[in-house]
Amino acid sequence: MNTFDENDQRNHPRPEETDFSRMVNTLLSRRQMLGTVGAGVGLFLGGQGVAQAANSGAQVGPRIGFKPIAANSFDTITVPAGYQWRVLASWGDAILPGGTGFDPVTRGTAISQSLSIGDNNDGMSFFGFSADHGVIAVNNEYANYEYLFANGRCSSIEDTRKAQAAHGVSVFEVRRIGGVWKLQPQARLNRRITANTEMRLSGPASGSALLKTQADPTGTVALGTFNNCANGRTPWGTYLTCEENFNGYFGTADSLPDNAAFKRYGISAKGAGHNWFPFDGRFDLAKNPNEPNRFGWVVEIDPMDPTSTPIKRTALGRFKHENAEVVVNADGHVVVYMGDDEKGEHIYKFVSAKKFDAKNPKANRDLLDEGTLYVARFATVEGKAQGEGEWIELTHGKNGLTAEAGFKDQAEVLIHTRLAATVVGATTMDRPEWVAVHPTQAQVYVTLTNNSDRGVKSNQAVNGPNPRAKNVYGQIVRWMPKGGDHTSSQFTWEIFALAGNPTLHKDAYAGSSNITPDNMFNSPDGLAFDRDGRLWIQTDGDYSNAKEFAGMGNNQMLCANPSTGEIKRFLVGPVGCEITGIAFTPDQKTMFVGIQHPGEKLTPSHFPQGGDAVPRSTIIAIARRDGGVVGA
Ligand code: FEO
Ligand code: CA
Ligand code: CA
Repeated sequence: MNTFDENDQRNHPRPEETDFSRMVNTLLSRRQMLGTVGAGVGLFLGGQGVAQAANSGAQVGPRIGFKPIAANSFDTITVPAGYQWRVLASWGDAILPGGTGFDPVTRGTAISQSLSIGDNNDGMSFFGFSADHGVIAVNNEYANYEYLFANGRCSSIEDTRKAQAAHGVSVFEVRRIGGVWKLQPQARLNRRITANTEMRLSGPASGSALLKTQADPTGTVALGTFNNCANGRTPWGTYLTCEENFNGYFGTADSLPDNAAFKRYGISAKGAGHNWFPFDGRFDLAKNPNEPNRFGWVVEIDPMDPTSTPIKRTALGRFKHENAEVVVNADGHVVVYMGDDEKGEHIYKFVSAKKFDAKNPKANRDLLDEGTLYVARFATVEGKAQGEGEWIELTHGKNGLTAEAGFKDQAEVLIHTRLAATVVGATTMDRPEWVAVHPTQAQVYVTLTNNSDRGVKSNQAVNGPNPRAKNVYGQIVRWMPKGGDHTSSQFTWEIFALAGNPTLHKDAYAGSSNITPDNMFNSPDGLAFDRDGRLWIQTDGDYSNAKEFAGMGNNQMLCANPSTGEIKRFLVGPVGCEITGIAFTPDQKTMFVGIQHPGEKLTPSHFPQGGDAVPRSTIIAIARRDGGVVGA
């Protein structure tokens, strides 16, 4: 089997030494050139947007009306003048009958946790019923053992059950009462989905021998979901939750066979410290070697029916899913864009076989079970921050995905998606995080958060959309499907923003010209458009405010104008947090934002209560004091 590098080299041969230095030179010269035209203009524009913005005086792109804020390292939320924020819900808030309030001494039991909001809220969606009433579905990615357990460790079956209940998805109704959105603790649709909730495996891999276990000889019924990172929502009103670093929950005291798929997916005897496998045999790899194959999927949940069975949609592939950005193409095909967040992994696209029918909601229910999965290959033209690209089909029998290559059937292509992507020569990326599609234009954006292996590991040579070795800052790349058709196999791409530190560097590590000392950040992760086309960027980066990251402060949220490249800082989070998860009410007057793991690793945070309170992951609601549209 070819390595990434061999494929990259075969498909995009290039001279050895010049690539990176020329890229740096190009970015640097553009930075200097555009820097004199006008601050805050992206390198990607090729002059057009610059001229418009500078000469016409007319609004180009969405209006971004707030006054940007400075970076800081405070243990609170900072938002622009004229805005206010409030706590909506936190880890441990009861949402089901019998639930009890958060206990700061015990931090709850397995039972109380299963009746309350899980830990580490991440991707979320808001489904509105009326102007003042809706339901939020939110992922609970993982648990911070330093706060979940008094002794900081998972060391019994009771601890394991509590940790499993802190994972998954929380669904709860919210109402706006007297202008303030409030959690409804006893509402009808409230639900907890945990690492033990029964789910169905559907699509082409359902029933595969690789999905069968002793407990489920059919390979069609899985228990639970965990490491639910970001999300998606379908036009038929369901919620998509994406299983990311599922590998770390498995382990064994025995030794593991040499297994290429285990290796590629990071499945090891040691695990990643969650420590479930010593107490719950389901996670012991020696006992249940196929159990990890039942994770790493996109799961569809109907938030309107608390009795519905969540469905793992295997047609969307198995990898470390970040989010699932759904767009209905002009011809009705449903397209789902997805990133696989690991150093040197890939970007994927699913195209449904059938078309969306707005008039017949029931007919759309299983659109995600049948279709074609593709992986992206970006062509590099030396020294250029833009180029062409193509989507390569991951279908058994095509592009070398044969039995001889290790794929017996389509089920195996989907269960071992990463291995298939390598066979077809996909481009290795700098940790693909969220993908976001512009609401009115055929443009798709992805955050590539960072990659310490870029230019270091032989399978991750510097390339066009990943232009910097030892990439500590990250970048945002966008692509435009050919002819505005999301089902097209061709696209053009360009770098929208290279994050960097212009106070320390003068080369490409200063970032693109739309990065300034006033808006600099690192490790873009969450990414979403609002209805007006403002692009919201959330960070999960280094918050030391020192060395390479001096002047960047805590993790933050920024707002970008996709037409001009201008980026303004909108929010700074508390100590030790990551900002992740974003949802809007339909009137765009309230924005819900996730504050994940304040105080992680015992950094000094007491958010949100303050004083000497236990820090808790929290969803906040942000609104303008004058009641206007957020961001405008
Ligand atoms: Fe869960 Fe890639 O962030
Ligand atoms: Ca993320
Ligand atoms: Ca992240």
